[in-house]
Amino acid sequence: MATRIPIVGGNWKMNTNRASAVALARAVSSAVGGLGGIEVVLFPPFPYLLEVGKAIEGSRLALGAQDVHCEPDGAFTGEVSASMLRDCGCAWTLIGHSERRHVIGEGDDLVNRKVLAALGAGLNVILCVGETRGQREAGQTDAVNQQQLTSGLHGVTREQMRRVVIAYEPVWAIGTGLTATPEDAQAAHAAIRGTLGRLFDSATAGGARIQYGGSMKPGNAAGLMRMPDIDGGLIGGASLNADDFGAIVQAAAHAG
Ligand code: PGA
Repeated sequence: MATRIPIVGGNWKMNTNRASAVALARAVSSAVGGLGGIEVVLFPPFPYLLEVGKAIEGSRLALGAQDVHCEPDGAFTGEVSASMLRDCGCAWTLIGHSERRHVIGEGDDLVNRKVLAALGAGLNVILCVGETRGQREAGQTDAVNQQQLTSGLHGVTREQMRRVVIAYEPVWAIGTGLTATPEDAQAAHAAIRGTLGRLFDSATAGGARIQYGGSMKPGNAAGLMRMPDIDGGLIGGASLNADDFGAIVQAAAHAG
C-alpha cells in the first residue's frame, strides 16, 4: 500500500486582518515547527499572502490561496491568476470550495478550468468536493462526489494527479459544528478513492491524499485521522486559533 504523507490545511476564509494574519502565521509556525512527516499549508486572504509568506519563510509551512482564476491574464476584473499566486509565493490553491460552489455559484466546468490552469502554472491543487444535506439524505453522497471528481479532474494527467489533493467536505458539516462520524467519512473517502482508481489507475488512487473537512476540531480530529482513507484535514474555524490548529496537526502527524 502507498504511504501517504498527511496534509493539513488552514483555510482562514475571509477572516483576520493584516496584523492578526501575521501573528497567527507566526503562532502556527511555532506550534507545529517541530513536527515531521506532515505537510501543513496556510490559506490566508489574498491581500495578506505576501506578508504571511514572509512570516513563514524558512519554516515548514507552505502558502496557499483560497481560489484562483482560470485565465492567465487579461480583462477579468477582481480575479487573480495562477502565475500571480506563484509570484506571491503560493505553492497551493484551493479550488471548488463549497462556499464558492454554493454561495458564489461556481459550476463544475469552471472548477475544472481552474484545476487545469493551476496545475499548468505549477500550483498544487486541493480540489474540494462534497454533498449537501439534502443529497446525503437522498442517498446521493457517493454519486455527487463521483460527479464532482469526474468533471473537476477532466483532462488531468496521472502525472499531474501527484500534485492534486482531494478535500472531502460534506457541505452540511462546514462551519456548522456538525461533523461526519469517522465511519461515515471513511466510507465517503473509500468511495472517492475508488472513483480515482476508475478515473486514473489503482496506483494513482492509492497515492492520492484525501483530506476530511467540516467542523474538524482538536476533540474529533484523532478519531477521523485514524481512518485508513483519511489523509489529513482542511480546517476552517479551528485554523484561526493556533493552539487548536496545532493540536489538529499533531493528531494528523501521529495518526497511522
Ligand atoms: P470548518 O470549515 O472547519 O469551519 O467547518 C472547513 C472548510 O470550509 O474548509
